[in-house]
Amino acid sequence: MESLRKSPRTLPASWYCSSALYQLERRGVFKKAWHFLGPVTRFQKEFEKVVYEIAQVTIVVENKTAKREDGTDGIIVYAEDESTKIKSHLTPSGLLFATLSADSPSFEDYFGGLEELTNKIDFTKLPHRRSISYEGRFNWKTMIDGYQECLHCQYTHPTFSKYYPPAFYKVENHNNFSQHIADPSKQSDGLFLYFFPICTLNVYGGGMSSFRTLPSPNPGVSRMEFDYYYSGTDEEFEEYFKFVRQVAMEDFELCEKAQANLERGVYAEGVLNPVKENGVAFYQQKVRESVYRQHAEEEAEKDRGDKVAQVAEVNGTASVVVAT
Ligand SMILES: [Fe+2]
Repeated sequence: MESLRKSPRTLPASWYCSSALYQLERRGVFKKAWHFLGPVTRFQKEFEKVVYEIAQVTIVVENKTAKREDGTDGIIVYAEDESTKIKSHLTPSGLLFATLSADSPSFEDYFGGLEELTNKIDFTKLPHRRSISYEGRFNWKTMIDGYQECLHCQYTHPTFSKYYPPAFYKVENHNNFSQHIADPSKQSDGLFLYFFPICTLNVYGGGMSSFRTLPSPNPGVSRMEFDYYYSGTDEEFEEYFKFVRQVAMEDFELCEKAQANLERGVYAEGVLNPVKENGVAFYQQKVRESVYRQHAEEEAEKDRGDKVAQVAEVNGTASVVVAT
């Protein structure tokens, strides 16, 4: 019992089904976060606009000087709505990140220590081959819950597990990101990075992919977007694509079933394995803290507003409101 008390608890099922909660997440999590858009090879076509819609904010990436040797200097990132100011950052190894507002901390504060890890890899080599997008009937957290642990791998992903035996699998949590280590003996393969809250980068099977689990105002629906990078013949790419799609579809099915159970009230809240689910505990705690903080800030703001209104009423004049 002692160990159970110390185990981290999951977020309640209601957090996966509530529109009001999503709106708090939107303001408290998504609009204050940095989001991974892709390696520079995603933006190699000159003047092609790559459009992202993240938490109902549309941002655009364009490469205005693709002909340059390094292909990087001309990349610009902006919000479709000109009144929205955002920030962007390109790491020395070629990974592009952006925010959805100017409210986010600096990249260094948000992802401290990330570049030490990513700088070991050159992300400018693998060409972009394909991007796909489709909707799923699950909350964004249902997908991230599954990504952040590999307890389900053995029975859900038989082909993946043959290549990366789950016995080795571990997750290391850092500053708003997690590194998954699939097999320490395969140094050049099997790098899995999770960027809080919804983006991932996966180097395995000889190629690279990234996905975003994009939330919608309907808490039970998300949009999956995948980008695939690979150097090799078309035939080799198709082989790689088949392998990684198999894993993704297995996860997709699991998420739709898990969400249906969450909505049916089959499950309310539980404990997490502190070792095997440390990645889930890590990101859920961030969601919990961000939502509570946002709620407290908005309540305080409302209180201040109420007091101002009361003063105005007592004085019977609107000019007090302006002066306060
Ligand atoms: Fe999985």
